[in-house]
Amino acid sequence: MEQKQPDTSRPRLGVVVGGSGLVGGTIVNYFKSKAEDQIDVRAPNSKKMSLREPDDIRKYLLDLQPDFIVNAAISNINADEKLSFDINYLGPYLLAKTAIELNIPYIHISSAATLKLGSKISEDEQRDFSPGLSNYTRSKLMAERTLAHLHRTEDLDYTVVRLAAVYGNHDHKIQGIQRMMFAVADESMPVMFTKKGVLHSYSNCRKLPYFIDHVLNHRDEFCGGDYNFVDRNPVELRELILAIKTFLEVKYPKDICVPYPLARFGQRSTTLLLRVLRKFGLKADLPPELIFLRQFYISQTLNCDRLQRSSFVDPMPDVNILSMLPEMIFYYLTRWNHQNLISTFKEKTAESNSFCNTFIHQPDQLLDAVHAGQLDAKNYTIKCTSQVDTTKSAVI
Ligand SMILES: NC(=O)c1ccc[n+]([C@@H]2O[C@H](COP(=O)([O-])OP(=O)(O)OC[C@H]3O[C@@H](n4cnc5c(N)ncnc54)[C@H](OP(=O)(O)O)[C@@H]3O)[C@@H](O)[C@H]2O)c1
Repeated sequence: MEQKQPDTSRPRLGVVVGGSGLVGGTIVNYFKSKAEDQIDVRAPNSKKMSLREPDDIRKYLLDLQPDFIVNAAISNINADEKLSFDINYLGPYLLAKTAIELNIPYIHISSAATLKLGSKISEDEQRDFSPGLSNYTRSKLMAERTLAHLHRTEDLDYTVVRLAAVYGNHDHKIQGIQRMMFAVADESMPVMFTKKGVLHSYSNCRKLPYFIDHVLNHRDEFCGGDYNFVDRNPVELRELILAIKTFLEVKYPKDICVPYPLARFGQRSTTLLLRVLRKFGLKADLPPELIFLRQFYISQTLNCDRLQRSSFVDPMPDVNILSMLPEMIFYYLTRWNHQNLISTFKEKTAESNSFCNTFIHQPDQLLDAVHAGQLDAKNYTIKCTSQVDTTKSAVI
């Protein structure tokens, strides 16, 4: 099918589904502020356009007439069969069908969960279906297969970008790598649930939008392809946990690796215990990432030769998960402190103490400053205008 010629009378218009998530949010930010070409991006939330509502999808996209679609939406990783099927499979299928109708590219974010475990796993080493797969993995795998089918049979212009564990600074939930960082910062991980020598690949969330932008601008090269988008060098899980621990200067976890059978036993017993506690009105859950417990004990490193051979040039070749740790830890600790989720690293600067005191004891002073237009909310200071009309700031 001949490619749709972009309407050059207006900026390109893209739709990012899942734009409030870790991955989608970074893509939206990039298109808003960093992309070289002017691109207008819409990121409907799941209330405006739910992947569970076929009519929503068609109506929204046909009304908008975008130039491309990026899908970074997923259900919770431990969602049941129906929700996983609807959001991770049927939703992408309907997005792709509408992309065919509009004759525009469809970029699909997928996961290393669809690939086999082991070393240097290439794009072609997909898992086979089996009842033992998680609902997340099965539905993501089904989506990849159907997109390839639509490309063969209906000329779908698509690219699959497959991510391993994603690291970056935009996570509003606590999940994946961020969950691990949280557990270390919160000192709630006494020992390590992995074993020596287990390696994994990691995907840098900040680099990903550059790739998507490039893929959209080079459709001839990337149409119909799937790419493992991971850092070139894998990292040992144990090394990563210990690096976080060293950086945070905390005592835990101890450098002791719990064997898998014991970890599995612990997981099952805790699940049972939590079930019993629910009968007494207490509600608590294990982290959903534990559906991947086995993967903490088995290496999965992805081969990224296809990405390296492509025309895409890594915009930050020296950045990897270990080099980005300080920045990420600072970002998340600040965030978790503000949300009162951890107390281990409560910031105790003079400025923050001073603001807290004013907020608690003299809120009137803040009201007066806001009403007089004198609050510098970014720096938590009140601007003091002197008689000679020079503006100074005072810490609140
Ligand atoms: N994070 C990782 O470590 C990782 C690893 C490998 C692959 N990936 C892949 O990366 C992609 C994005 O993952 P993420 O970590 O960014 O996910 P996330 O932070 O959990 O975000 C999920 C997004 O999906 C949207 N969503 C959920 N239900 C929806 C529905 N019914 N209709 C429309 N949108 C819906 C949510 O929007 P609302 O908030 O509006 O509901 C949210 O924006 C997924 O394809 C995932 O498989 C992620």
